[in-house]
Amino acid sequence: MSTQASAVQTPTSFKPRIFSGIQPSGGLTLGNYLGALKRFVEKQDEGIETIYCMVDMHAITVWQDPEKLRHQTREGAAAFIAAGIDPKRSILFNQSQVSAHAELGWIFSCIARMGWMSRMTQWKDKTAGKNAEAASLGLFAYPALMAADILTYHATMVPVGEDQKQHLELTRDIAIKFNNDYGLDFFPVVEPLIEGAATRVMSLRDGTKKMSKSDPSDQSRINLTDDADTIATKIRKAKTDPLPLPDSVEALRDRPEARNLVNIYAALAEHSVEQVVRDFAGAQFGTFKPALADLAVAKLSPITTEMNRLMADPAEIDRILGDGADRAEAIARPILDRTKDIVGMIRSPKG
Ligand code: AMP
Ligand code: TRP
Repeated sequence: MSTQASAVQTPTSFKPRIFSGIQPSGGLTLGNYLGALKRFVEKQDEGIETIYCMVDMHAITVWQDPEKLRHQTREGAAAFIAAGIDPKRSILFNQSQVSAHAELGWIFSCIARMGWMSRMTQWKDKTAGKNAEAASLGLFAYPALMAADILTYHATMVPVGEDQKQHLELTRDIAIKFNNDYGLDFFPVVEPLIEGAATRVMSLRDGTKKMSKSDPSDQSRINLTDDADTIATKIRKAKTDPLPLPDSVEALRDRPEARNLVNIYAALAEHSVEQVVRDFAGAQFGTFKPALADLAVAKLSPITTEMNRLMADPAEIDRILGDGADRAEAIARPILDRTKDIVGMIRSPKG
């Protein structure tokens, strides 16, 4: 055994650490807020070590205009801070400033199997009906980079929305295969945290489709940059059915649009879905929608205002991201170095 390999430490338990990321591939939506940001803040406030990342390298798996990418990365960072992320207590940075992500991403591309990647539903959805041959190689390899994002920090918990469940299962598979291949307990097998009433916020135009920043219809989503009037109008015009709200959660099962609005209300109000159903049993949408619009405006407007304030000073946002990147690098680099030792890569002594 080489001296480097024998110097490899084998952790048997991992300290609790949270990592999550958001793509700066468009403006953030209510789905991102309820499924991700709001919960990121709760985790920070529980006192767990939290690392949050604008994953700009993931964003360029599909074409991004450079100026827009820069703007959206800053806007995303502003949204984190406006939503309650304290860049002193949490680490907040953009992915491309910490090269460990790319380096470990390559190693994981050599661990993951083509078959695993081909089964990813997000890959299949994004290439469905299109010419898959014309998709970028990065889009196919995307989940290996996501595994690297998480595992280069030995993160143990990953808060995400429902749509990321399969990617996290792949992250677990990569960690397990790496550990098995090299006969070490080196990478943690992460736990997805998919919790709450809004793990899958649906489109306001179609209750069977996810609310998404890439939906061609702006009416389908609430953007964190929308003003109060726009939010109220979008909720008023949201698709619904003609029935009043029922008196049981069960009765919402086959009413996707109604269920979505009730779930959004519950998540924003921090009430259980049962409680919301109890409060609005028998109400018409003509009553429920204005109540939801008022609640959404009350919760989102302060965030939008704070985002706008922060965006007036982009240099300060860049400074925060740089500081976060330095602190992220300090955690990631030693883990990447140990990974390279395990794999058998020579690291010559510096200086
Ligand atoms: P993305 O915008 O795809 O980078 O997603 C960033 C985070 O937001 C991930 O944790 C997603 O699961 C979550 N997210 C995105 N859209 C939704 C949605 N409609 N409902 C709930 N969570 C979502
Ligand atoms: N794939 C995630 C999404 O589209 C974004 C992401 C990239 C991520 N790396 C991550 C999420 C690491 C959690 C952890 O939403």
